[in-house]
Amino acid sequence: MEIIKPDTEKAEQQTSSKAMTPTAQSTGLNALSYVQTKVVPLRPEHLERNRIVAYNKNSTMGGAFDLLRTQVLKIMEENGWRTLAITSPTPEAGKTVLAINLAMSIAHHTTKTALLVDFDLRRPKVGEYLGLPMDKSLNELLADEADLQDVLVNPTLPRFVVLPTREPIPLSTEVLSSPAVSHLIADLRERYNSRIVIFDLPPLLSSDDVINVLPKFDCVLLVVANGLNSKKEIEESLHHLGTANLIGTVLNKAEPENRSYY
Ligand SMILES: Nc1ncnc2c1ncn2[C@@H]1O[C@H](COP(=O)(O)OP(=O)(O)OP(=O)(O)O)[C@@H](O)[C@H]1O
Ligand SMILES: [Mg+2]
Repeated sequence: MEIIKPDTEKAEQQTSSKAMTPTAQSTGLNALSYVQTKVVPLRPEHLERNRIVAYNKNSTMGGAFDLLRTQVLKIMEENGWRTLAITSPTPEAGKTVLAINLAMSIAHHTTKTALLVDFDLRRPKVGEYLGLPMDKSLNELLADEADLQDVLVNPTLPRFVVLPTREPIPLSTEVLSSPAVSHLIADLRERYNSRIVIFDLPPLLSSDDVINVLPKFDCVLLVVANGLNSKKEIEESLHHLGTANLIGTVLNKAEPENRSYY
């Protein structure tokens, strides 16, 4: 996979705002990598149907994500961490919804760029929840049929960039363990200091996917849905996380009086 490396994070922010105008002209290498980023509009009804609320900066429903964002970023900054993996013990905990809302909250309320990568190669949903077209995606990037700048999408929110996965990728455990994926993660992490990269992962206990790829991330957030997991499953998950930097656990899908907390 061929990768263009602009050399300053400032360039990302400048070109990112240019990218909001799809007609912006490329003026050089730095501009090239971002102006080529496809700009796609977001549809509020579609987002809300999928519980994506943080697209609206002023939404009161985004409060829980804002609190989560503040706490996650504080720990990441203190430790110099820039890549965050999101997983859960078993399916359906709300990882993907949380990953999208958290990334949007970072993009809205900080000067950092939030890059969200769909690394659930078995059940990719990021693009579907956001309503992205995805003619080129991680599928093509990993198959060497596209370059990074062709697969990144800017869903009109400034500083919010998505690398979607259109369809399941066979042999996901092997793919996630491959040098190509290590190289991709390192490249996404190293390209800009001011970028936070969030990886939406599959569940921990459903396959070996997470265990194999986990050491490649700076830190991990565990999402546990209220009432969904036994104590044994949670303990097993913590055991699997081993020496990974567990940044925290989110209790999701909680009752209103016991609202999701971090
Ligand atoms: N806080 C929440 N309260 C209620 N429902 C939620 C909440 N978060 C997510 N959901 C719903 O739960 C379902 C699963 O959400 P999501 O796809 O984000 O989970 P996931 O952990 O990514 O699942 P998978 O393991 O399949 O990747 C969706 O229908 C979503 O709308
Ligand atoms: Mg998911």
